[in-house]
Amino acid sequence: MPSSSCRSRGAAELGGGGSPSSAAHDPGGGGGIPGAASTAPRPPHAPSNHDHSETTSRMRERGAFMGLLWHGPACHGAPGEGGSGTGRPMIPINLRSDTQTLPTPQMLEAIAAAPLGDDTYDEDPTVARFEALAAERLGMEAALLVLSGHMGNLVAMMAHAQPGDEVLLDRDSHIYYYEVGSLASVAGLMPWPLRSEAGRIDPDELRSAIRARDLHYPRPALLCLENTHNRAGGRVVPPSLHRELCRVAREAGLRVHLDGARIFNAAIAAGVPVSEYTREVDSVMLCLTKGLSCPLGSVLAGSRDFIARADRVRRRLGGGMRQAGVIAAPGIVALEGMIDRLADDHRHARRLAAGIAALLGLEVDESSVETNMVYVDHRGSGLSTDALLARLHAAGVIASGRPPHQIRLVTNRHHDEATIDEALARIARAMQDPT
Ligand SMILES: Cc1ncc(COP(=O)(O)O)c(C=O)c1O
Repeated sequence: MPSSSCRSRGAAELGGGGSPSSAAHDPGGGGGIPGAASTAPRPPHAPSNHDHSETTSRMRERGAFMGLLWHGPACHGAPGEGGSGTGRPMIPINLRSDTQTLPTPQMLEAIAAAPLGDDTYDEDPTVARFEALAAERLGMEAALLVLSGHMGNLVAMMAHAQPGDEVLLDRDSHIYYYEVGSLASVAGLMPWPLRSEAGRIDPDELRSAIRARDLHYPRPALLCLENTHNRAGGRVVPPSLHRELCRVAREAGLRVHLDGARIFNAAIAAGVPVSEYTREVDSVMLCLTKGLSCPLGSVLAGSRDFIARADRVRRRLGGGMRQAGVIAAPGIVALEGMIDRLADDHRHARRLAAGIAALLGLEVDESSVETNMVYVDHRGSGLSTDALLARLHAAGVIASGRPPHQIRLVTNRHHDEATIDEALARIARAMQDPT
């Protein structure tokens, strides 16, 4: 019988149930494909999951699906070949987001090999194994697989707070800025937006924003934090500030949820175990689909009691799943083998930032590049954000816009040093091009 109320989803389940072959796990060193057997050498900037006998047309089809914009049979040009002016097609270097990552071959194998069952009956052994592993890796009692980061944040807020309660959060946080207002429209919560500087909320500002409990006010119930901070450019909230913010919230009787879509990036950059962050909060959401490269899914972690409540909320939102092991299996690969390599993305982002900083018309604060994101100020170029993006696209680099005067570039496992250097060469060409 369905048994969400009695499911523990905890670290104690680790090792229970069947599992995809661990021999298939990818240590994830920079996106190389051991044993790849494509007919032509793969340029370093090509997405790297097209191994074995995958054909060029299949690659193009998959690339187009992922927004990688394959432009013809150009997967065998050396870096720098082809592109505008040469009459030959070129494979764009996609620096739009770490969400553009494709699953590794090991993930695809793990999906195919995963033992499955009906998860709404607690009978999917791969989900059970994933949730136990996630709880352990995040240093929490229990975990719950959800479909997306947005869903994980929403489920957490609804499990922590009642309709009409107040949620304090950064006005530049993903939850407030990008999640379609679901905290108000779906959860019925009242946002109290705070300012931040480089993704950092001032503890004094938080303290004075928490209103006294009064019949006339909504009940302040929850503080939501974000780390790394997306709109602040992948900035890391240092552990000491994180602790202080949690302390202020707790003293006022608030619970704390951490949008840790990229919490392992934060922990790696701060040089601390992830538990340094998670032990201070009541819940944390981690995305599997960013630098960890899974095709789908996020995970919410917290106490057993919280996860039992979250499980009910997830179901209420239509997020109960059947053979969800197909999502959990690549999640296991990610948690076992993809975390440490996030440091490569950070190194590549710094290399990219240093190169861009040397170009006329573009400005980067290199000290702000702490993880995998590079925000570039293009005011000196005299171009609008859209005009610059179009120019970069024509030169073979895909970025995203942060109008009115910034663009964002994000590194991921599909980029190695040569890709970054090639991207820099293309960006330099684009900035020289008078058209
Ligand atoms: C900080 C942060 N939180 C949450 C999310 C939402 O994740 P998803 O796109 O899986 O809903 C994102 C997505 O980019 C994010 O950057």
